[in-house]
Amino acid sequence: MEKLNAGPTPIQELNSILLSENKVRFFLKRDDQLFDPAAPDFNGNKWRKMKYNLFAAREQGKDTLLTFGGAYSNHIAATAAAAKLFGFKSIGIIRGEQPAKLNPTLKRVLEQGMQLEFITRSAYREKNDPVFIQNLHKKYGDFYLLPEGGSNNLALKGCAEIVREIEIDFQEKLPDFICCGCGTGGTFAGIVTGIDERTQAIGFSALKGNFHTAEVENLLERYDGKRYKNWEINNDYHFGGFAKHKPALIDFINQFKTDFDIQLEPLYTGKMLFGIYDLIQKGFFPEGSTILAVHTGGLQGITGFNERFGGIINAST
Ligand SMILES: Cc1ncc(COP(=O)(O)O)c(C=O)c1O
Repeated sequence: MEKLNAGPTPIQELNSILLSENKVRFFLKRDDQLFDPAAPDFNGNKWRKMKYNLFAAREQGKDTLLTFGGAYSNHIAATAAAAKLFGFKSIGIIRGEQPAKLNPTLKRVLEQGMQLEFITRSAYREKNDPVFIQNLHKKYGDFYLLPEGGSNNLALKGCAEIVREIEIDFQEKLPDFICCGCGTGGTFAGIVTGIDERTQAIGFSALKGNFHTAEVENLLERYDGKRYKNWEINNDYHFGGFAKHKPALIDFINQFKTDFDIQLEPLYTGKMLFGIYDLIQKGFFPEGSTILAVHTGGLQGITGFNERFGGIINAST
């Protein structure tokens, strides 16, 4: 378990004409490189979010992790991989009917020993209900429960460490903006708890609907109840909703790979980076700003995405 204290991930400055013309500096924190070679699907923000949960599970003497997610979920993939790496059993409660043919994510989690249960979408909505959880305990016995997306207080604590690592590199002159993709909002909320008034955090929602501000407020309230001010949610780059895409997004991801040899995925990091570049172009960031985005990993989903949409993402994964 000492592995979980892996050192800081690299921060890479990117250079391009767009950045120099708009007089901003742009950095990418490579949390996609935060993984153990024996368990590559346990990476990025999943590593950050699960770190203290795994310590807690071990301390509490649990031998099983149970969690929830969709059929292509990075969180499900990461839980299966982390469980295998650290010797836990794992159970994944999957939203929706079992598909006739398993997608690459589900095949991989089964290979890693995760036990799967498929439940209807309406049953899935009960996932935080105490009675529903009690019934899961009756069925599966004792387990350590990770909520959907792994977003609990210990996840926020792990994600605040992203900021501590940024401070090591930037010293006194912290980035003016720290950006991160939002699904459940837990990674972003953790970052918000780590910054001070020198930095503005921007969360790019990967989902349609303006609920993320309230969602992040709830997470922060549950965490320490403090009023954090320096953050905002951008709802303009969801591309039609969760897991939805448009050709412009795919072109951007492929061009980014060509220009910088950095792989993005279409659900979170591609949308966030598209948004940041668009905002730079529109002059949103004042001249002289330093902007840092967190590459939260999650590249396992590309295989399934390409299988569904005809290999449109140029990927080496
Ligand atoms: C690669 C990646 N980035 C960002 C996120 C968003 O994380 P959160 O659910 O903490 O908002 C996810 C969530 O699954 C993810 O897989």
